[in-house]
Amino acid sequence: MFHRFPRPTRNPLLRKDEMSAIAVDSLYKVFGKGARSAVAQLKNGTPRDQLAKHVTAAVIDHNWSIEPGEIFVVMGLSGSGKSTLIRMLNGLIKPTSGTIRIGGVELGSLSNRELRRLRREKISMVFQHFALLPHRSVVENVAFGLEIKGLSKTERLERAREAVELVGLTGHEDKLPAQLSGGMKQRVGLARALAADTEILLMDEAFSALDPLIRQEMQDQLLDLQSKLGKTIVFITHDLNEAMRIGDRIAICDGQVKQLGTAEDILLRPADEYVAEFTADVDRTRVLTAEAVMEPCAGRDTSKFPQVESDVPMTELYQPVLNSKAPLLVVDDNADPLGVVTPRSIIKSLSHPAGDPAEERQPA
Ligand SMILES: Nc1ncnc2c1ncn2[C@@H]1O[C@H](COP(=O)(O)OP(=O)(O)OP(=O)(O)O)[C@@H](O)[C@H]1O
Ligand SMILES: [Mg+2]
Repeated sequence: MFHRFPRPTRNPLLRKDEMSAIAVDSLYKVFGKGARSAVAQLKNGTPRDQLAKHVTAAVIDHNWSIEPGEIFVVMGLSGSGKSTLIRMLNGLIKPTSGTIRIGGVELGSLSNRELRRLRREKISMVFQHFALLPHRSVVENVAFGLEIKGLSKTERLERAREAVELVGLTGHEDKLPAQLSGGMKQRVGLARALAADTEILLMDEAFSALDPLIRQEMQDQLLDLQSKLGKTIVFITHDLNEAMRIGDRIAICDGQVKQLGTAEDILLRPADEYVAEFTADVDRTRVLTAEAVMEPCAGRDTSKFPQVESDVPMTELYQPVLNSKAPLLVVDDNADPLGVVTPRSIIKSLSHPAGDPAEERQPA
């Protein structure tokens, strides 16, 4: 079943009162000679294209923070700086300018040794393609990397078995990578990251090489795991449907952040043409909720209308409404009426062109 939007309270482990898990401030990464002066020029308003002859500005003026337990999706086309960003977050490459804080600790202030330690203890990565050791079993592959944490072999295998179970590979522990499907291999990668038991998971196009159906299964599994484990996840994708499906918030990037918001923000209130173009192909039924598709109840006797809560997704609404042609009354937490969902309001929001202001749809 599809999750509901918006989901700010979805994760019971979300701890709003704690400091940000990850925070970036005026973050830039420019590749090439004269990178620093290029940053100065960017700060003065020089467009990126004007600098492109000499340098590549991959990450431009990122300012955002992620709360513990949040799934933060970074979304953008090829070359929009996503991998550069994630490699800065775990300290593999240094920013040209700006700061990154992980749990309040500024990466720039750490020695290489401290940085390695932080990577080991706090951050795990999952990639699209990662190396499984061909002659080691699933469970040994998952346990790989725990040695460095100083765990005994028994402890390592025990932890690996737990992670294997979490990703649904129980029964396959002793198989070799060559005996696994693509989806299963990707699960091994996820299990390896989970076995490390870090607070932060960085996932770079982790599901992008999978068939659509398997990919969807992995997305479901990630959401399921997240509801149990409450990790802080930075998930990179170039697929907006995937972004909308799993992200608590989404940053749409093209060097700089074009828009940062919930799926609904991005779909209903795209910040500019660039974002609007992205949203054109999105399956709206998956993202919009009753509240987003309702219209005012003005003048209607709503007392006999079946009620529906405001955060129910449209996927669960449009069949009943379109089949019975009867409206639903959208109510808030106190059962107070907010508006009605009618066949007309559903059709209107499905055909709502991306980029149109949706604000005019006021609740009753
Ligand atoms: N080490 C490097 N040296 C020079 N240029 C680089 C380097 N790494 C990345 N770039 C450039 O920075 C830009 C952003 O690259 P990046 O890999 O971050 O994009 P991406 O969003 O991850 O793309 P994709 O979706 O294809 O993975 C690209 O133009 C790339 O060529
Ligand atoms: Mg990349």
